[in-house]
Amino acid sequence: MCTHQFVTQEVALGERSYPIHIGSGLLQRGDLLLPHIRSKKVVVVSNTTVAPLYLDSVRATLRAGGIDVLPVILPDGEQYKTWETLNQVFDALLGNHCERSTPLLALGGGVIGDMGGFAAACYQRGMPFIQIPTTLLAMVDSSVGGKTAINHPLGKNMIGAFYQPRLVLADIDTLSTLPERELRAGIAEVIKYGLIRDAEFIDWLETHMPALLARETGALMTAVARSCAHKAEVVAADERESGERALLNLGHTFGHAIETGLGYGAWLHGEAIAAGSVMAAELSRALGWLSRADVVRVQALFASAGLPVCGPRLGAERYLELMRHDKKVQDGRLRLVLLQKLGQAVLSDVASVDQIAAAIDTCCAPT
Ligand code: NAD
Ligand code: GLY
Repeated sequence: MCTHQFVTQEVALGERSYPIHIGSGLLQRGDLLLPHIRSKKVVVVSNTTVAPLYLDSVRATLRAGGIDVLPVILPDGEQYKTWETLNQVFDALLGNHCERSTPLLALGGGVIGDMGGFAAACYQRGMPFIQIPTTLLAMVDSSVGGKTAINHPLGKNMIGAFYQPRLVLADIDTLSTLPERELRAGIAEVIKYGLIRDAEFIDWLETHMPALLARETGALMTAVARSCAHKAEVVAADERESGERALLNLGHTFGHAIETGLGYGAWLHGEAIAAGSVMAAELSRALGWLSRADVVRVQALFASAGLPVCGPRLGAERYLELMRHDKKVQDGRLRLVLLQKLGQAVLSDVASVDQIAAAIDTCCAPT
């Protein structure tokens, strides 16, 4: 008998549509997982941190359905999101005679999801792929929507493919072991959905931030489900980012400059996105779209999650230099995701270089 609660969001992509199940105790739910597997063997790609915590649960659920598991355990860390690590996955797939029909399950955060998804997209030109995200960031963002990639020494996520999973299984219980800093970084992506397309969600987050930080299951379920509903809607409308999907990158152009400028790993992605979103809000104020009170509200919300609201003092020139490498630069003009009002984002190139530099200077930590 089922004693656990869950909710389901659908990513509507025609015959490639898939469910996102969000709830407690889902790793044990063979009734949710097994219908998506038509093979007697699956590959589970995970890492040295997550596998000891959750691989046995997943394996038991699959074994109860008569399915064997081939675990592929990778080293943990963004620095391993590389060709070399991807090849370890291909070595295991080929060495164990995996077929095109053998499903690949990614069990972990965004690094494992992105790398596992890319391996699934490439191996024999595409094997079935399932996401089992175990970080808040992966549950609300990276596991949904089919962006898969590895890093190249010359750029993050530069080698990849759009490849949708068949199922996303987000077990909120796995967040109980997530390090505090990773939880906070994931909250930055949750706040993003409120800022770009859901003003009511901003109100909800302001009230429920203590419950989220305390990892209350109900609050986490609401935050993940509402975020996934937004992501699913955007992806269904613009799978390959020719328009609306770019709005999911609020704060990312500034944030990537922070990540690259400081060296990968100094700040977590979500931390850089928090400070970058404040810069985007400040620039939106300079353009006359937001009020000063709106900017203070954005800052207060990120600060309540324990996230940075000031960028490191790299100098506006250095920020601009780094921002010009962004995928959204077109014909040399910086296109940025800005806020027309709280809960409504726009992709715009109207800001001048001087206005962008001024917003950066205003939002950098004092020396
Ligand atoms: P991550 O995958 O590195 O996970 C963060 C850390 O938490 C790792 O050490 C991991 O082993 C550990 N961990 C994961 N789950 C755990 C758990 N339940 N308990 C304890 N520890 C756990 O980082 P992330 O923030 O999940 O993902 C970041 C990656 O996602 C980046 O590579 C980024 O480029 C990518 N990303 C992709 C998309 C997309 O649309 N595909 C979107 C956003 C980010
Ligand atoms: N994380 C942004 C996207 O999926 O488009």
